[in-house]
Amino acid sequence: MTLEELESVTEKVNLYALGVLAPPRYDHSLRVATMARDMCVRFGVDPVEGYLAGIAHDMCKSGRERWLLAMALRDGQPIVEVEEKKPSLLHGRAAAILLESDFGVTDRSVLDAVRHHTFGAPGMDALGKIIFVADKVEPGRTGLDPEWLERLHRADLDGMTAMVLELNIAYLDSRGKSVSPVTREMLASLKGPVPAK
Ligand SMILES: [Fe+2]
Ligand SMILES: [Fe+2]
Repeated sequence: MTLEELESVTEKVNLYALGVLAPPRYDHSLRVATMARDMCVRFGVDPVEGYLAGIAHDMCKSGRERWLLAMALRDGQPIVEVEEKKPSLLHGRAAAILLESDFGVTDRSVLDAVRHHTFGAPGMDALGKIIFVADKVEPGRTGLDPEWLERLHRADLDGMTAMVLELNIAYLDSRGKSVSPVTREMLASLKGPVPAK
């Protein structure tokens, strides 16, 4: 997509997100977009694409469960057990479909980053890792250890992604929640195999 097309679609997605999301969720999306843009500059990825993926990633978060299930089915992938139990987890897949079908986004990297931002996916590209990381540690996220954050910001992109995945898995494990297999696979693909729980 050309720069003009990307900028125009970013404006439209921004207005859509502003219209459908509760203010705290919209503000989170803005912070993810801004952090993603900065990380793109640092890691040599197109910052305009980073901002677009950031502003779009949660735009279906307020969608109803049946709508999310119907939307997600359109990407041709099966609905896995954790998604069936908790359809809100499908908001990334739904947003990727909406971006492509209603907003005309054709950039595979942007669509994949949005699609996989919740669980991650093994073999994610740089933009995918950036959105995954920015979503979890944008400046509005509270309760993160300042020393851990300092280490995070000194790490390279794979290091940052691995740290965020480990934190995510530890959090889910500590609360007895199930971790999506693709999340563990993504960490394994970055660091070598990790023992299954
Ligand atoms: Fe999300
Ligand atoms: Fe988010």
